[in-house]
Amino acid sequence: MSIQSKFTEIFGLAPDLVTAAPGRVNLIGEHVDYNDGFVLPFAINARTYCALRIREDSRIRIASKQEDGTAFEAEISSLKPLTGPVWTRYILGVIWALEVKTGVEIFVDSEVPTGAGLSSSAALECSVAIALNEILTLNKSLQELARITQRAENEFVGVPCGIMDQSISLMGKSGHALLLDCRDLSTRQIKVDFETFGLKLLIVDTRAHHALVDGGYAERRAQCEEVARELKVKALRDLTLNELEVARGKLKEINFKRARHVISEIARVHDAVTALEANEFETFGRLLTDSHTSLRDDYNVSCPELDVAVDTALANGALGARMVGGGFGGSAIALIKDADAGKIGAAIEHAFKDRGFKAPRFFDSLPSDGAQVLNSN
Ligand code: GLA
Repeated sequence: MSIQSKFTEIFGLAPDLVTAAPGRVNLIGEHVDYNDGFVLPFAINARTYCALRIREDSRIRIASKQEDGTAFEAEISSLKPLTGPVWTRYILGVIWALEVKTGVEIFVDSEVPTGAGLSSSAALECSVAIALNEILTLNKSLQELARITQRAENEFVGVPCGIMDQSISLMGKSGHALLLDCRDLSTRQIKVDFETFGLKLLIVDTRAHHALVDGGYAERRAQCEEVARELKVKALRDLTLNELEVARGKLKEINFKRARHVISEIARVHDAVTALEANEFETFGRLLTDSHTSLRDDYNVSCPELDVAVDTALANGALGARMVGGGFGGSAIALIKDADAGKIGAAIEHAFKDRGFKAPRFFDSLPSDGAQVLNSN
């Protein structure tokens, strides 16, 4: 059944418009967005669809295919951060952050797997934001929508995420990764063509989700902010590795390691762009693997499942591999030769089975377009 028909079945009238916004993988630049750094994500082809109709009163009715399609209702004046079922907060948070004054009906349906570290949350938020922006003629730029949806997630949902996921879901471009400066949200689209060179990016969903996810992320943010405060810079982006080394004695050793990851990772993003633009895929792959090592050893956000996925891919011929997203579970990526895909997939499946891990899932996706209005009545 089409999303329009499903919407009509639930709410009785056809939607005013349908939008879609994608999930993402990040090629490189992990845990640097909240340090004003640079990231290089691309939008994947899996998307979240949003059908929306404006009401003439102040009632909000929302439903999700993934939450059995039953409508959840609220009054627009009584929206309150950090309350209500968690899935509803991603939608209500965007309505709240956009300061919408009228009632709406929304039905969402997502292809982006949840818990896989592929930003299903940002896809959901951005599909709703782009729909409201269009239908209410709010005229917000993509940068503004990125900040607004991040605010919805930070304040209304209660997740202290950075700006990367929302930005790429909104600004993705087919065939390109987005070099995003997380300080001023300026961007450069970087062509990504692995196919022509017989390569592809394998996405491995480890299906692991460790309890550390929430507390561990907030703790790392706080450690980074502490270093920036102690060394009197606005953010870690403003420090060089050399300056950090000189100040080592003043810092807690653990904070030093956190900052070393962030500063070295930002440098790797720039090197990765140079390598991509020169079609130097061996170098690019090495940078991915260096990123993983730094995330594992200095930032301590990997986990056994991610390490096994990465190590097995590398042992079977991958040019590079790393965990993506927040860590403690979720997905890894590996840059592999197309011809090795079957062999590497099978090796990872075996390695997971041997260790008693859940069976992993594999995806691949070319860089795809960001959020779009698909049709309006
Ligand atoms: C999560 C957050 C992002 C970013 C990554 C780590 O995906 O939502 O803002 O911090 O972790 O790079």
